[in-house]
Amino acid sequence: MDQQQRMERPLLGDRAAANKKSRRRAAWVFVTVLIFIVLGLVVYHGSAYWGLREEKYEQRRDANDVAESENGVVAADDGRCSDIGVSVLKDGGHAVDAAVATALCLGVVNPMSSGIGGGAFMVVRSSSTSQAEAFDMRETAPLAASKDMYENNPQSKYIGALSMGVPGEIAGLREAWSKYGRLAWKSLFQPAIRLARDGFVVAPYLGSAIKKSEKLIMADPGLRKVFAPNGKLLRPGDTCYNVELGHTLEAIAENGPQAFYNGTLGENFVRDVRQVGGILTMEDLRHYKVEITDAMAVNAMGYTILGMPPPSSGTPGLALVLHILDGYGSADAVKGPLRLHRLIEAMKHMLALRMNLGDPDFVNVTDYITDMLSPSLAKSLQQKIFDNTTFPPDYYMNRFSQLRDHGTSHFCIVDSDRNAVSMTTTVNYYFGAGVLSPSTGIVLNNEMDDFSTPTEISVDKLPPAPANFVEPRKRPLSSMTPIIILKDNQLAGVIGGSGGIFIIPAVTQVFLNHFVLGMEPLAAVQYPRVYHELVPNKVLYENWTVIDGDHIELSDDRKVFLKERGHELKAQAKGAICQLVVQTLASPLIDTTRKIGGQPNSGQVFHGMLTAVSDPRKDGKPAGL
Ligand SMILES: *[C@@H]1O[C@H](CO)[C@@H](O)[C@H](O)[C@H]1NC(C)=O
Ligand SMILES: *[C@@H]1O[C@H](CO)[C@@H](O)[C@H](O)[C@H]1NC(C)=O
Ligand SMILES: *[C@@H]1O[C@H](CO)[C@@H](O)[C@H](O)[C@H]1NC(C)=O
Ligand SMILES: *[C@@H]1O[C@H](CO)[C@@H](O)[C@H](O)[C@H]1NC(C)=O
Repeated sequence: MDQQQRMERPLLGDRAAANKKSRRRAAWVFVTVLIFIVLGLVVYHGSAYWGLREEKYEQRRDANDVAESENGVVAADDGRCSDIGVSVLKDGGHAVDAAVATALCLGVVNPMSSGIGGGAFMVVRSSSTSQAEAFDMRETAPLAASKDMYENNPQSKYIGALSMGVPGEIAGLREAWSKYGRLAWKSLFQPAIRLARDGFVVAPYLGSAIKKSEKLIMADPGLRKVFAPNGKLLRPGDTCYNVELGHTLEAIAENGPQAFYNGTLGENFVRDVRQVGGILTMEDLRHYKVEITDAMAVNAMGYTILGMPPPSSGTPGLALVLHILDGYGSADAVKGPLRLHRLIEAMKHMLALRMNLGDPDFVNVTDYITDMLSPSLAKSLQQKIFDNTTFPPDYYMNRFSQLRDHGTSHFCIVDSDRNAVSMTTTVNYYFGAGVLSPSTGIVLNNEMDDFSTPTEISVDKLPPAPANFVEPRKRPLSSMTPIIILKDNQLAGVIGGSGGIFIIPAVTQVFLNHFVLGMEPLAAVQYPRVYHELVPNKVLYENWTVIDGDHIELSDDRKVFLKERGHELKAQAKGAICQLVVQTLASPLIDTTRKIGGQPNSGQVFHGMLTAVSDPRKDGKPAGL
């Protein structure tokens, strides 16, 4: 018994001990696993936080947002216009031919953002000559305009016929076509004429613009007739007709730009404009001149960027931001949330400086441009950026109130010879001046609002920028940033965007996302963006459910990181719209039998895969040949 007990006790004790031991082992395993999980999470999130790893971005793959082709692509913000551009390429057209047809199409189906009553910037690069030209078809102030013309009625600067600049788009398209076009001018007009005359379906984006602009549309007989026939606003899916615009396009197709700039069509347009208080004259139209210069070329981050010179603040602005980031000396400087902070700080410096710019035909901006493009200024600004904090606007030497432009539409085109076009077109606000000329069907721009005026009271309480005051025939400053990107003198990409003051930051971010951080083209465009206006001193971050149902929002990680550096954050349900085309240069497909510009291609022009992306934020679709 004793023995048994003695034998049993240890037995019992053994079992208890064994149980205890296995429980302890389980606990140790549990704790160890837990420690590893926690460590893993810390490292994983920490690495994203400190920028060692790019935050994973869930790219929503919609086949419609991307087009691939080795032969040619068009990325517009409306699929119908991309298709029309591609059909021109299919007929053997140059990228510029496709640009004419695409722009005219956009003017019909996206009349809230573009049209022949507005203006545009176009950058063209010819693959055979490697020459890049900038076509400035921006609106000019009428001859009767003056610095103080809006003093008594500030509202007339952005609404009504007095807010209209002399339209430049048709003249600019013609100049570019005269130089590069291969197809008949008239043929490029036919698709747009059909859409205007036979009607087109109102896309969701236009539908929402019509709804937002209800008051404006109902107040103007011309707009009402087209966008609210029978007194009811058109909705998505309805058919819209602009028969007068169809006739106008027919006249310009037949008789060239003279029909508008020096003909009956122009006379009718001038009469309509003057009837509602405008100051436009035939002399204004006759004197309109497209500015054609070499594109501005900037080297940054291993690429050459070709863009518009002033009155665009886009190229010098983009250059300054990239040079500041370049100053950190390593690609890591632009990775992770710290890159966002540095990018925001660089943008704040850029915004302050760009307000010194204006139309170079009227103000001498040479020194400012030299500064904005100079690596030494970028270096000194970079040294003013602290990784642990942000500053109030005066820190950035902010002297003048910001340009807050609106509207616009951008498209990118690359043809089978790798000629490229980057074009941003605009009527400024939604439906421009809020006036449609009844006899011509043309929507008037309100580009005069992009000028500064001496008595203007701005949100930042800073004086308006004198370099940008109104003068007859002067062009207002602009944020539009159409660019073409080269790597080792080969076409690497085309980018541009719409959305006024948000354009430069958006184009910068799409460029960095793809060309520096290596994101796929669609992800580079889709990735949530941040913006800044300098005043108010807030980071504006995207948080919106866009037209196709996608929700775009900056990650919480990044928000926390920025807040810790003293940034005030503000969510906004809007942002710029960007189109992107990239050419894969890694595995070139050189076709040595193809002739370029009449000369046999000796293999010097790469023919890689082209990928075109239309921003999913708008309902646009790209197209490939
Ligand atoms: C306008 O047209 C007339 C002929 O109708 C012509 O003589 C004149 O040179 C044209 N003006 C311009 C600026 O093209
Ligand atoms: C503009 O300014 C620069 C530098 O100050 C000067 O060299 C140049 O001559 C000026 N240009 C004109 C047209 O006055
Ligand atoms: C940021 O860092 C600098 C030194 O690099 C320091 O002088 C400054 O006090 C810091 N500012 C904040 C807000 O932490
Ligand atoms: C972000 O957007 C969502 C959905 O549109 C909205 O419910 C939410 O309130 C927004 N957040 C902020 C901070 O505005």
